[in-house]
Amino acid sequence: MPSPLGIRITGTGHAVPDRILTNADFVRMVDTTDEWIRERTGILERRIVGDGESTATLATDAARRAIENARLTAKDIDAIIVATITPECPFPATASFVQHAIGAPEIPCFDVCAACSGFIYGLVVASNLLHSPAFSNILLIGAETLSRITDYQDRTSCILFGDGAGAVVLTRTQNGGSSALLNWRLHSDGSGANMLWVPAGGSRLPASQMTINERLHYMKMQGREVYKFAVKRMLEMVEQTVHEAGVRPSELAMIIPHQSNKRIIESARQKLNVPESKMYTNIERFGNTSAASIPIGLDEVRRDGRVRDGDLVLLVAFGAGLTWASALLRL
Ligand SMILES: CC(C)(COP(=O)(O)OP(=O)(O)OC[C@H]1O[C@@H](n2cnc3c(N)ncnc32)[C@H](O)[C@@H]1OP(=O)(O)O)[C@@H](O)C(=O)NCCC(=O)NCCS
Repeated sequence: MPSPLGIRITGTGHAVPDRILTNADFVRMVDTTDEWIRERTGILERRIVGDGESTATLATDAARRAIENARLTAKDIDAIIVATITPECPFPATASFVQHAIGAPEIPCFDVCAACSGFIYGLVVASNLLHSPAFSNILLIGAETLSRITDYQDRTSCILFGDGAGAVVLTRTQNGGSSALLNWRLHSDGSGANMLWVPAGGSRLPASQMTINERLHYMKMQGREVYKFAVKRMLEMVEQTVHEAGVRPSELAMIIPHQSNKRIIESARQKLNVPESKMYTNIERFGNTSAASIPIGLDEVRRDGRVRDGDLVLLVAFGAGLTWASALLRL
């Protein structure tokens, strides 16, 4: 088991576009109903970027809020990591755009591509960088514009996804661990890579007229298979992570799961016997925002006082790759 690190989350922030896509909007676009979407996913609406907005603009807005919340300035940031599967462009990293936009120094900037598990992957990477005296404050952002890769002709997937960004500032504590990343798990199984993916636009299948005609630049998902994988892994992750850390699920102030489908979250909640108030959801308002969903949730619960310093919070995610991950934090 990884040893505890002396890090604190000193700031959080999030940003979502103003534009709302409701279930009623989908009824006009594909063969679906508001009732089907509510019952099968729990989603009522999602936020979608408009002209001039992108992954980097959302990431930048969330970053500014997190830095302000940490009572720091961009000059205090020693590295920027962006978790995303919808980068600003194939290269350079979205983190580089954020660095320029916020006016941070010439610091390391890179992206992490681990889909819906990306924020937790980034958290573990950032925490390990903080072992080095070269780093005191790391800005970690989960940011997505899934609307840019969603096929709005595919009713089985388009109803799920939305856009948004969440950011945290991780700060190395001087005295070790009054608060810490207590335990984490990162996993992947590439045999499931094509269960949820964008087939074209990379080296395997570069963009061509054919790939456009075949709609291969949009996300393809085997929904039922991903559902089964998610239910299994979410439960397993929560149980293993708390058990290894010697913590009982009842000691957790909040579980913040990746917001993929309300039924997946609810199934795990019931099996874990966790009260509704301790299983965070915002999927009703934002849909599935992949790497952004957990940091958006973390910011919301911190700002509205549902969690406080010293509380135990468990983050758990699963998604394309396939990947799955968890992190147990003491705030
Ligand atoms: C996509 C998902 C919502 C579909 O829900 P489901 O209960 O599994 O539904 P099914 O795929 O079994 O489809 C049931 C029926 O509804 C239909 N259906 C699918 N999408 C529909 C829609 N938007 N509106 C109405 N009917 C729809 C199907 O065609 C199917 O019809 P059939 O029985 O005549 O074949 C669900 O599988 C899911 O959430 N999967 C995980 C997705 C996910 O989390 N992805 C991201 C991972 S991080």
